[in-house]
Amino acid sequence: MKKIYVFCMLTLASSIISCGSDPKKTDNNSPEVNPETTVEETKTKADFPLAEQGKALFEGEGTCVACHKLDTKVVGPSIQEIVAIYKAKNASIATFLNEASEPIVDPSQYSIMKANFAITKNMKPEQRLALEQYMMSLAP
Ligand code: HEC
Repeated sequence: MKKIYVFCMLTLASSIISCGSDPKKTDNNSPEVNPETTVEETKTKADFPLAEQGKALFEGEGTCVACHKLDTKVVGPSIQEIVAIYKAKNASIATFLNEASEPIVDPSQYSIMKANFAITKNMKPEQRLALEQYMMSLAP
């Protein structure tokens, strides 16, 4: 009698386990993730058409990447910190890079940033805008 009972419990348990794992498999194979990523990328490209050019300037001739990392402060504030403040105040990074507006992120360190205007003020307006779009596209 006891043996039959144990056998029944085992059968029941294994059927519950197999039942539980089946829907998970379907979830893992779900294609939902990919379309979402595509929508995100498309949105970024439409909103910031110059972002790629800006990235090249940021990491290349602008040398910005030496002092600005995505989410950690190095010499300068992180890109995400800068962008959060510029978004909140509806300010323009391109204008700042043309030395046509005051610092609003960390005025106490402004002199370090100011040295870079030698580079950014020699850029074309479109290049300053590209730098702005690249940074804004990295908003948290
Ligand atoms: C030598 C280090 C250094 C380099 C290189 C550098 N920055 Fe900065 N940057 C700083 C520091 C320090 C601050 C904080 C002072 C300030 O807020 O003005 C800053 C602040 C900023 C701000 C916020 C300004 C504000 O309103 O306060 C922006 C935007 C910015 N940098 C963009 C850039 C871009 C774009 C480049 C490349 C063309 C660049 N930085 C290159 C050090 C640097």
